Amino acid sequence: MNEMTVTREEREAKLEGMGCKRKRVEDIRFTQGKGNYVDDVKLPGMLHGDFVRSPHPHARIKSIDKDKALKVPGVLAVLTAEDLKSVNLAWMPTLAGDVQMVLADDKVLFQNQEVAFVVATDRYAADDGINAVEVEYEALPVLIDPFHSMDPDAPVLREDIKDKKDGAHGPRKHPNHIFEWTVGDKDLTDAAFRKAEVTIKELISYHRTHPSPLETCQCVCSFDKVKGELTIWGTFQAPHVIRTVVALISKIPEHKIHVISPDIGGGFGNKVGAYPGYICSAVASIVTGKPVKWVEDRIENLTSTSFARDYHMTTEIAATKEGMVTGLRVHVLADHGAFDACADPSKWPAGFFNIVTGSYDFPTAHLAVDGVYTNKAPGGVAYRCSFRVTEAAYCIERGMNILAQKLGMDPVELRLKNFIRPEQFPYHSALGWEYDSGDYHTAIKKMMETVDYAGLRREQAEKRDAFKRGETREIMGLGVSFFTEIVGAGPSKNCDILGIAMFDSCEIRLHPTGAGIARMGTKSQGQGHETTWAQIIATELGIPADDIMIEEGNTDTAPYGLGTYGSRSTPVAGAAIAMAARKVKAKAQMIAAYMLEVHEDDLEWDIDGFRVKGLPERFKSMKDICWAAYNAPPPGMEPGLEAVSYYDPPNMTYPFGAYLCVMDIDVDTGVYKVRRFYALDDCGTRINPMIIEGQVHGGLTEAFAIAMGQEIRYDNDGNVVTGSFMDFFMPTAVETPHWETDFTVTPSPHHPIGAKGVGESPNVGGVPAFSNAVNDAFSFLGSTHIQMPHDFWRNWQAAKNLGVIA
Ligand code: CDP
Repeated sequence: MNEMTVTREEREAKLEGMGCKRKRVEDIRFTQGKGNYVDDVKLPGMLHGDFVRSPHPHARIKSIDKDKALKVPGVLAVLTAEDLKSVNLAWMPTLAGDVQMVLADDKVLFQNQEVAFVVATDRYAADDGINAVEVEYEALPVLIDPFHSMDPDAPVLREDIKDKKDGAHGPRKHPNHIFEWTVGDKDLTDAAFRKAEVTIKELISYHRTHPSPLETCQCVCSFDKVKGELTIWGTFQAPHVIRTVVALISKIPEHKIHVISPDIGGGFGNKVGAYPGYICSAVASIVTGKPVKWVEDRIENLTSTSFARDYHMTTEIAATKEGMVTGLRVHVLADHGAFDACADPSKWPAGFFNIVTGSYDFPTAHLAVDGVYTNKAPGGVAYRCSFRVTEAAYCIERGMNILAQKLGMDPVELRLKNFIRPEQFPYHSALGWEYDSGDYHTAIKKMMETVDYAGLRREQAEKRDAFKRGETREIMGLGVSFFTEIVGAGPSKNCDILGIAMFDSCEIRLHPTGAGIARMGTKSQGQGHETTWAQIIATELGIPADDIMIEEGNTDTAPYGLGTYGSRSTPVAGAAIAMAARKVKAKAQMIAAYMLEVHEDDLEWDIDGFRVKGLPERFKSMKDICWAAYNAPPPGMEPGLEAVSYYDPPNMTYPFGAYLCVMDIDVDTGVYKVRRFYALDDCGTRINPMIIEGQVHGGLTEAFAIAMGQEIRYDNDGNVVTGSFMDFFMPTAVETPHWETDFTVTPSPHHPIGAKGVGESPNVGGVPAFSNAVNDAFSFLGSTHIQMPHDFWRNWQAAKNLGVIA
């Protein structure tokens, strides 16, 4: 390259590095139908597996007769728990340290639980086989309400552990009790409440919902009897973890297990855990000697694979009359369904819920969480969230609004009084976290100015007067939310799943012509990693992003990593990418020094190569250096230019944001309209502003869905009544509001490029903004708290309960 003929700006622009709105490279194949998803995997002789599922939420299995099913043309095998017992796989470990039935063993514990696995030559034959399996059930009493789980006369659900005295986190209080987890200083907190001038107490429930990605959970398992090797293509957010877990439970050596996550159509936490479908497909492939495919349908996905939330949070805040918070006390009743299949790091049975002090400087706090079993599907996954952060943010953001209402204070004013101040960072929270960086005052002030918050409050006051005069039937709500997240698990000393420590990795290999390939332990499910990871390398190494191929998801080639969920990819793998690049760069500098016949210290980095200090014309580009690395390395130096980094973060990152929702509600119909939604996010250094905006749009849409209608609901008999998209709210472009996005930049001090995660922030901050808008709208009519989801019906009911309509 003749570097003198192009400007610095042109050289930088050519890289498309960090900060550039680079177009998503993966979209070329996605928008042309050229993606390669699990269901695109078609192998010779492939069989199809499908489940017989229980219509009962709680029943004893008296018999399973598979004779008729085995006579159905095309059906080759029907697996039951008895068959799996011979290979010790009737039960499997969950990620939370519990065990879960792979196929119903003696009883079923939730509606649509897997009872038998039918293997057939095609999906239709498998379905006919399912209908021909005869199962005799004896119905048992059903337990749906978690508030009755520990009643003395509650039916015992988990008979397998009914006499177990201790759970993973202390003594069990009842056969349906899973764990109690407490954090914080109880005595100090109780004392703060005794002294408090003002207190609030409210049961704030975060209902049961579901990540429901467009592509459901699925896999293809192929066991090669000759080589003793198992290959699994699956919708796995964490392929290496799946490989290790399969090795541990199957006893197949880890190097003979190949896990491949091809393109994934959305994960949102749904594709982190292990499901019976994976085990049954692997066993069926071993038994039949043929590849076996299992593809969940929508109803199966919604009703049997991991749900999210179902947290019932009794929230108390103590404060002074002037609105300074003095204590926080929260008790959570956590409904985990039939098996504790939460995907939380082992030490944290309620995930990172102890971020519940939020963005506020609480001098003391105490948290207690009780996990209980019910006759509902297992799970408790982080649906676009970092291990229960969403629940915590909802809890504190509703709590602060309820306190503001009691004090007669504006919710923004209350927040401003209690925010952690910039000079307090790194900030140690009362419940044990060290927040890395933040500037909350600047963010909320930018929000207030941009939306003209004072003007909106004036308009609301006028509308309220007009409503009282009977001139309008519309009420207006302003939903303020200010969230602090905690993303990027590890560090490995604190965070592990089933003993597997949480860190992440990157391997970069540059080729002689100056192009390269980079592989990570993460796995994109739509977040655009192929685009953004190359941008980090482009800036660090001065190689155009277009010349770097990004590969994730194949355990044979990718370095070991813990995968993608909880917005951990940028904080952890993003750091590993920068660190691997810096190792490559250090070697490149030695090569450049040799080429330019100077000492390494006499060189300086300049956009896309090294230059001799003070002699701008003496320059070697990374392209030149790559060629030399292979073809003319310095004497004694190994040829090649590559490096791997395993990055164990020293701390998590703490992104934050200020959101405002402006909503109008017609009290006579309950119909709401989101008039305006403003979202300011601070995720530290921004790698790709366009992708960040896309992540925020997607996360806000999911937050809107959850807050305004999306719910997995059970009737009292344990039937799922929202088991399809007919009943489970899935907003389309028609319902989805317009999003206004904004940002501030407060880099993380410990991350090599200062970046924090962003993928889940809009879901975490969005839900309280919507809910606070609805609650704010109704507050002048005497309401304190209305439970989510706020669909038209519930809004109408709220108006009725408040006596606004007859
Ligand atoms: O772990 P996950 O990929 O779901 O979440 P993330 O780390 O927040 O990243 C989501 C997407 O946003 C990725 O493509 C990131 O590279 C991008 N991102 C960014 O451009 N700048 C940031 N500071 C954070 C994320």
